[in-house]
Amino acid sequence: MADKYRAVIAGCGSMSHGHALGYQSMENVEVVAIADPVAEARANFGERYRVKRQYEDFRQMLDEERPDIVSIVTWHRLHAPMTIAACARRPKAVLCEKPMSVSLGDCDEMIVAARRNEVKLAIAHQRRFNPAWNEARKLIKEGAIGRPRQVVARGGQGLLNDCSHLLDMMRYVQGDVEADWVMGNVERKTDRYERDIRIEDRSAGIIHFNNGALGLILQELDGPNYQGGIFYGSEGTLELDEQKVRLLNSTTGKWEERVVQGEDPSVAQARELVEWIEGKTEHRGRAENGRAAVEIIMAIYESARMHEVVSLPLKTRTSPIDLMVESGALPVERPGRYDIRAFLLRGEAMKPGEV
Ligand SMILES: NC(=O)c1ccc[n+]([C@@H]2O[C@H](COP(=O)([O-])OP(=O)(O)OC[C@H]3O[C@@H](n4cnc5c(N)ncnc54)[C@H](O)[C@@H]3O)[C@@H](O)[C@H]2O)c1
Repeated sequence: MADKYRAVIAGCGSMSHGHALGYQSMENVEVVAIADPVAEARANFGERYRVKRQYEDFRQMLDEERPDIVSIVTWHRLHAPMTIAACARRPKAVLCEKPMSVSLGDCDEMIVAARRNEVKLAIAHQRRFNPAWNEARKLIKEGAIGRPRQVVARGGQGLLNDCSHLLDMMRYVQGDVEADWVMGNVERKTDRYERDIRIEDRSAGIIHFNNGALGLILQELDGPNYQGGIFYGSEGTLELDEQKVRLLNSTTGKWEERVVQGEDPSVAQARELVEWIEGKTEHRGRAENGRAAVEIIMAIYESARMHEVVSLPLKTRTSPIDLMVESGALPVERPGRYDIRAFLLRGEAMKPGEV
C-alpha cells in the first residue's frame, strides 16, 4: 500500500466539500490537487482545505498528478466525459457524483471505461451510508413490516436530481432490489432545465421491483420531501427520512420512533472507497447501482414517449425526454429557457454555455 493515497477533486463547488471532508478525515488519503475553470472556486477551496496544487484544466491535472483517487464533482452532463477521461489515466478509483449521468448510454460507456482500465468506479449516492437508511434496510430485512408491498417518495427539481437519490433509496432500503417494469408520464410546458439538463415540470412513475413491491415516485406533485419515503408492508409501515425511522407493525400495534446517529455519510463513503481499493469490501455505491437509478428514470421518460409499460433492461440508450422535445412530441407551450440552478453560475452568464 502507498503511504498515502493521492486524491484529486474536479469541481470546487457546493458538493466538493463533502468529498474534501471524506478524504481529509482519513489518515491514509491526501487531497493533492484540485481542478476548476473558475479561479475564485479554486482559490476558496484551496485556502479552506489547504490544497496548493490547483489546475484550470482537469486533464492536465490528471496527467501531471497521476492520482490514485479521482472525485468528479461537476454538473451531471460532465460526469461521463470526465469519468471516462479519468479512467483512461488508470487511477485506482473514481468517485463520481450522482446522478451517474444523463443517459443510459453514457452510464454504459463509463462502466466500459472503468472495466477496460481496471478502475473501481463508484457513484456518490452517499445517502446509502446514512444511519437512518441503514436502520430501515436492517428492519425490512428482519421482517419488521412483513413483505414489502409499496414504497412512496416525493421529490422535485426533475427526476435526475433529487429523485435519483429517492429511487436509489427504494432499491437500497429493500436490499438492492431490481426494477423489472416501469410506467410513467411527464408534463413539460415550460422550457425547464436543471444544471443545464432538460427536465420536466412534473412527472410520476410506477416501478415494479423484483421482490413484488411497487414504487411510486412523484416529482413536483404533492409537495417534495427530498429525504426519504414511506414503505408499506404486509405487517407494518415504515417512514424514513435522513434522521429517523418511524415504525408501526402488527406486533407492537403502535408507532415507534428511532432517531439514528452515526458517522457522516461522506466520511463513510470515502472510507469504503479505500477499503474497496484494498480489496476488503465492495463499495455499496458501485457504478451498477448508480446506473440502476438512471435506468429507472430513463424508463419513466421512455414510458411517456412510447405510451407503454417499459420492461427492463431498458433498450433505449439516449435520453427519451430529449427525444420527445426534439421530435416535437413534447412542445414547450410557455417559451423561455430557464435553469432552476442558475444561481450556481458564477460571473455574468445566466445560462450555462453563454459567453
Ligand atoms: N450527493 C449529493 O447529495 C449531492 C448534493 C449536491 C450536488 N450533488 C451533485 O454534485 C454535482 C455538482 O453540483 P454542485 O452543486 O457542486 O455544483 P456547483 O455549480 O456548485 O459546482 C460545480 C463546479 O464544477 C466546476 N466545473 C465546471 N466545469 C468544470 C471542469 N471542466 N473541470 C472542473 N471543474 C469544473 C464549476 O466551475 C463549479 O465550481 C452535481 O452533479 C450534483 O448532482 C450531489
